[in-house]
Amino acid sequence: MSENVTVPVHVTIIMDGNGRWARQRGGERLMGHRNGVKSVRESCEFAVEKGIKYLSLYAFSEENWSRPKEEVEGLMALMVKSVLEERETFRKNNIRFRVIGHRERLSPELLEKIDEAQAETAGNTGLTLIVMLSYSGKWDLVNAASRYAADACEAVRRGETPPQLDEALFSSYLCTAGIPDPDLLIRTSGEQRISNYMLWQCAYTEFYFTDVLWPDFRKSDFADALDAFSKRDRRYGKIK
Ligand code: IPE
Ligand code: IPE
Ligand code: MG
Repeated sequence: MSENVTVPVHVTIIMDGNGRWARQRGGERLMGHRNGVKSVRESCEFAVEKGIKYLSLYAFSEENWSRPKEEVEGLMALMVKSVLEERETFRKNNIRFRVIGHRERLSPELLEKIDEAQAETAGNTGLTLIVMLSYSGKWDLVNAASRYAADACEAVRRGETPPQLDEALFSSYLCTAGIPDPDLLIRTSGEQRISNYMLWQCAYTEFYFTDVLWPDFRKSDFADALDAFSKRDRRYGKIK
């Protein structure tokens, strides 16, 4: 990685290609998911080393619930195991762990492990690691809109004027409230789409696509993405 890179505040990764990685080796899809855990660990370490403040990882989409039962159950069991095993890494590296998504769809067992890890790391001040689990961009937007509508109705019921909806207020209803929008989005496996990910939050995010399959993603691949990011000219609609 070159010396003068601009370090993004928030990097988000669509971790894709586990199934193809396993198929190339004649294995079950779950073997790919299991091997993706090492890439998660390396990415976290790299983010800590580089002083990235937020690393969010798209681990499971709302649409992924439609995969075969066996794969979904295997993935959820892997989540429980990983959350348990990584607690020591979070502690050692001052990582704050958060999970964002449609909690109601997760099992009580998984929710318990998540809540414990979140509570245990809540005071950590280094990297914030966010796992997007049972998340989708459209779900987040609809959820935010309904929550605002409920609050507005409640205000009217009390005889008050509901707060004027603007971008800042709307953002506060998204489940990423308080987290800066991603500066850089990395997607592995060669697909060039965002698959219903952070639709609102990625309004001005820089996209980086790589053919590397997620289980093969290493620190050097992350460094390549940061190099590419530092060459981007972010104009936000203005003229420089
Ligand atoms: C990404 O890998 C992990 C999840 C979506 C849970 P895939 O399972 O989508 O792997 P491919 O895209 O089929 O290779
Ligand atoms: C996106 O990958 C979701 C995650 C990586 C969690 P998918 O494999 O589900 O996306 P599509 O189906 O190729 O768009
Ligand atoms: Mg995929």
